[in-house]
Order: sequence, then C-alpha cells, then structure tokens
Amino acid sequence: MGLSVQDVSRQYPTPGEPLVVLRGATLAMEPGDSLAIVGPSGSGKSTLLSILGALDPPTAGRVELDGVDPFTLDEPGLARFRNERVGFVFQDHYLLPQCTVLENVLVPKLAAGGSSDADRQQAEALLNRVGLGDRLTHRPAELSGGERQRAALARALVNRPALLLADEPTGNLDRQSAENVGELLLEMSRQQETMLVVVTHSQELAAVMARRMRLDDGRLSPID
Ligand SMILES: Nc1ncnc2c1ncn2[C@@H]1O[C@H](COP(=O)(O)OP(=O)(O)OP(=O)(O)O)[C@@H](O)[C@H]1O
Ligand SMILES: [Mg+2]
Repeated sequence: MGLSVQDVSRQYPTPGEPLVVLRGATLAMEPGDSLAIVGPSGSGKSTLLSILGALDPPTAGRVELDGVDPFTLDEPGLARFRNERVGFVFQDHYLLPQCTVLENVLVPKLAAGGSSDADRQQAEALLNRVGLGDRLTHRPAELSGGERQRAALARALVNRPALLLADEPTGNLDRQSAENVGELLLEMSRQQETMLVVVTHSQELAAVMARRMRLDDGRLSPID
C-alpha cells in the first residue's frame, strides 16, 4: 500500500540538448501521510506532480500507487486510474462556470459512469464538511476565492482517491483563506486516509504537513 517513486527522471526534448527537469527523484508515502514539496520556480515541482498523478510519464524510473504502475495501463485503464485513484487541486480552481457547486463536485462521478442518489448525498456531505453546505446551488462566480478552492477540494475527494495532489492550492488566496484551505486539506486527507502531496511557496502551509522535501534543479531531498 502507498506511493512509491523510484529514481524518476524527466527530460523535455529541445532543438539542442534535452532539458533535464527531474533527476532521479525518489520518495515513499503511506496512507495518511502528508508531504510538502517546496523549491524555486522552474525546479520541476509541477512536473513531478503531473507524473505522480499519471498525467505525464517519466523519462526514466518508476511510480507505483498501491502496487500499480499507471504507465503500464492501457488508455481506458489509465483514464480510470486518474479519475478514481487521484484527486487534483490546482492554483486555479478549474470549476465549470455554468455548473452549480454541487454539479461541479459530481463531475468526477459523471466521468466514472453517472451519478446516483448516493453520490449526490456524498457530494453534499463533502460540501458540508468544507463549509459550503449552504452554497450548493451557487455558481463558481458567486463564490469567494477561498470558497472556490474548498469546492475544488470537495470535487477532488468525491471519488475517495488514494492520493491527493495540490499544486499551489492557496497561491491565489489571502492569508486567512489560505490558512483555512490548508487546514482543510490536511483534515480531509486525514479523515479519508488519503496521501497528500502539496506543492507550495507558503512556509505556513509547508509547516503543517507531516514531512517536507525540497526540489532544487530537479533533485529532490528531505529538509529538516
Ligand atoms: N511541456 C514542457 N516542455 C518543455 N519544457 C517544459 C515543459 N513543462 C515544463 N517545462 C520546463 O520544465 C521546468 C520545470 O517546470 P515546472 O512547471 O515543473 O516548474 P515548477 O517548479 O512547478 O515552477 P513554478 O514554481 O514556477 O510553478 C521549467 O524550466 C519549464 O520551462
Ligand atoms: Mg509549478
């Protein structure tokens, strides 16, 4: 059980020498674990997250989530893996503007083949837990920035993913909203026994995670 990342490298082809973005990143996590990844702009943090989330294959190395290497799956298997095993929260919420908050949270259920009454109840329960129980029929434009991020968090958790990935989830928020969203990320991932990886420039957010690692020039190393 857990996440295993072994010696992962990523290069991008260029007209000249290939651009090396990740150089042998290795890490391991267990259910309930939380990890902050910090590092300067361009150091490869988002690249690493997209590999962990099976959005992008590594050039070399191996990723396994609960014993499954997603990059060995066929296209439908890979799509199901991304949808059911991994939750994403980005700096921008990417909520669908024409849909209500509740509908947005149900989108991953629709992608998995339709949403039942039980799904709807679960989505409502999640929205209650993130403090949006009285905003179910609001559209994203009718929410505050922090509320949008909380709705995005509920959406990321609706399929009970094994792994929750957050890329600068509080980057666009004021300090108080950032703190709320940060606490909620941690609390929800603990409750659901989801592994949590957060990329952040915020020292406060990094400090509340169980562990911290730094990416520097594509090299990943533990800090403190
Ligand atoms: N698809 C791509 N093709 C070519 N180069 C890329 C691609 N994606 C990212 N890069 C390069 O890889 C490097 C790392 O990018 P990445 O987005 O992982 O950085 P980051 O650590 O998330 O930075 P930031 O803190 O600014 O978000 C950058 O120099 C970027 O230009
Ligand atoms: Mg980034």
